Amino acid sequence: MAQPVIRVFADLESLSREAAEQFVRLAQQQAQAGCRFSIALAGGSTPRRLYELLAGEPYRSRVPWASVHAFWGDERWVPPDHPDSNFRQAFSLLLTHVPLPAGNIYRVPTGSGDATLAAATYERTLRTFFKLQDGAWPAFDLVVLGLGEDGHVASLFPQSAALQEAHHAVTATTGGNPNVPRVTLTLPVLNHAKHLVWLVAGAQKASVARDVLEGADRAEELPAQRVRPTHGEAMWLLDRAAAGLLHVDEAAKGNA
Ligand code: 6PG
Repeated sequence: MAQPVIRVFADLESLSREAAEQFVRLAQQQAQAGCRFSIALAGGSTPRRLYELLAGEPYRSRVPWASVHAFWGDERWVPPDHPDSNFRQAFSLLLTHVPLPAGNIYRVPTGSGDATLAAATYERTLRTFFKLQDGAWPAFDLVVLGLGEDGHVASLFPQSAALQEAHHAVTATTGGNPNVPRVTLTLPVLNHAKHLVWLVAGAQKASVARDVLEGADRAEELPAQRVRPTHGEAMWLLDRAAAGLLHVDEAAKGNA
């Protein structure tokens, strides 16, 4: 298991530009190899700027959009046109502005039924897309992640039963802000990703970033500590405020 790469930037803008560069690089790499580029997008406010950047130049025209397949790492149990919908956020800021085929968008089916049913449906969607045999895990080419102030990641909240999920790729849970039922990818899926990119900004994240990255093992309380890709690479992109309590070396801070 490789150590995560930690990079520190002056602000959300420069951090988001680096994330956009990583997105373009990985998308091009996949297309050059004749492969699909499967991504899981994050909710929350931090990735908004990344989505806006990818929707415009100089990034938009460098991405082979036809090979991009967009999933979500988690979704809130609200209709798809609700302001709190993670689908709606990524769609309105990014996906509607790029030539991504509509069939390449795989949203969590909120809107009818319940979160448990939607989790089972989304799991089937993943299994079909990744052509998975029983017991195999999806391996996303890129998962974008945010870090909650309480140490949550996707909709994997501290002490929740979802953290123990060892058989399903997708599960229903509840919590967070808004405190509604949620559908989330599970830890084994995050840990089978080929590339994880964390976006963490703001002084309010400084202590949790330190606890997750440099603190003692508190895996039940800090779900983010349990995200350790088995074969993939994890990259943490933090702004200077969020990295304020880290002891990362000056080379990492030199990105700022
Ligand atoms: C969600 C998320 C969640 C988010 C973090 C960080 O749907 O709420 O995907 O895990 O990424 O809470 O959120 P911010 O970027 O808003 O700090």
